[in-house]
Amino acid sequence: MVTRTQLSRLGLFDAKVPRYTSYPTSPHFKNDVKPGDFSDWIEAIPENSDISLYLHVPFCRRLCWFCACRTQGTASGEPVGAYVETLKDELTLLKRHLPRGVRLSRLHWGGGTPTLLSAAQMRDLAAAVREAADFADNYEFSVEIDPNEIDAARLDALFDSGMNRASIGVQDFDPDIQKTIGREQSFETTKRAVDMIRERGIQSLNADILYGLPNQTRSKIVDSVQKLLSLSPDRVALYGYAHVPWMAKRQQMIPSDALPRPDERLELFETARKLFVWDSYDEIGIDHFATKSDGLSVAARSGTLRRNFQGYTDDTSEVLVGLGASSISKFPQGYAQNAPATSAYTKAIRAHGFSTVRGHSFSKQDNLRARMIEMLMCDFRVDTAALVRDFDTTRAEVTSILKAANAELENLLVVDDTGLFVPREARPLTRIIARSFDAYELSSAGHSSAI
Ligand SMILES: C[S@@+](CC[C@H](N)C(=O)[O-])C[C@H]1O[C@@H](n2cnc3c(N)ncnc32)[C@H](O)[C@@H]1O
Ligand code: SF4
Repeated sequence: MVTRTQLSRLGLFDAKVPRYTSYPTSPHFKNDVKPGDFSDWIEAIPENSDISLYLHVPFCRRLCWFCACRTQGTASGEPVGAYVETLKDELTLLKRHLPRGVRLSRLHWGGGTPTLLSAAQMRDLAAAVREAADFADNYEFSVEIDPNEIDAARLDALFDSGMNRASIGVQDFDPDIQKTIGREQSFETTKRAVDMIRERGIQSLNADILYGLPNQTRSKIVDSVQKLLSLSPDRVALYGYAHVPWMAKRQQMIPSDALPRPDERLELFETARKLFVWDSYDEIGIDHFATKSDGLSVAARSGTLRRNFQGYTDDTSEVLVGLGASSISKFPQGYAQNAPATSAYTKAIRAHGFSTVRGHSFSKQDNLRARMIEMLMCDFRVDTAALVRDFDTTRAEVTSILKAANAELENLLVVDDTGLFVPREARPLTRIIARSFDAYELSSAGHSSAI
């Protein structure tokens, strides 16, 4: 039995740890990865293979105070129109370097608010994507939809362009919490968006909600989760609110003294988690829930769940190409990130080059440790035989890393010949365990609370 005192002693309530959507994490990227590396890595993609493509739209009509995403406010449509043109130019560049027959198994538009685009811009951008690379059979095309920033014409444009998965931002339904976090969105607005999505036969709906918000109490999160369950999402991401006002300046609008304490955050998470489980959702990794028939649940059951910059995925592509300002791409050779500032990104693309400014080339050790962390975050276990089979390592090397991690965790974990296993009651510590596999010196700046 793991006690609160033990969780606290192991750092759960005060450690700042990465969310490990990549390894190494992006603060460790260096500026030695250049546009030439990015184009070389694209050209090395095997012909006729499937890849994932991410397009970033860094604009929002309103800027929610709680939001830590890379985005900027815009009142007029002008910068958005110019940005879409730049994205299309980047897609043309991509096409020039893509080997023959490469198709898209996944396409994701994220932001910011991609639904800020007009219906015509959406159709235009989707056509430019298809011009660069066509969809694979069984492709998935998902879009982040702000329920406040969508209407029938834009949904039709997305649906006609092939969107078959939608992701909506909910955060919390409580009006007082919404006021405090600077994001007002009535239940009716969210329901209207969900109904419009369902009416078009879009098969899969994801919703993001947050725990750890200011003034959030147990009864408020129960109410929010129940409202969300009434909309029957196929997937839910239950993220811990990351309060990082030194990085996301707009969070300074949020009073720190209204934030729940770390032990209360754990309770809020557990309360919400139990409601999803009682409603027959499967738990996916550390913070997702999915219906039994959803692709994430199927992948979790079959041991093929993966983790990338967009969180949990059943996508098995080796390559994720990220286009747009600040986007990160992943190749078997390493990570490459585009210029974060829209102006610098635009300037590079207009000069007919890619805008890569930083990244990381993988060493053999990186590949091993990245996979260990991914196994842990997806399956709560590390499989020694699979690592020895797939990487340049030995059983002895893996076992010694696992034993060292267990010693740091006061031997709360199970380490044996098969590998490492995290018992249920130690699962809140998963990101702290992952950190013990992280060979890079970690500074806590920019990371969020461990719970
Ligand atoms: C980039 S936003 C896009 C969603 C879309 N613009 C909307 O507002 O509906 C994706 C998600 O990131 C999550 N997010 C943003 N800021 C966060 C923070 N400070 N802590 C935790 N999650 C956050 C929210 O759950 C949000 O729905
Ligand atoms: S939550 Fe969505 S709409 Fe709000 S600022 Fe972030 S990206 Fe923009």
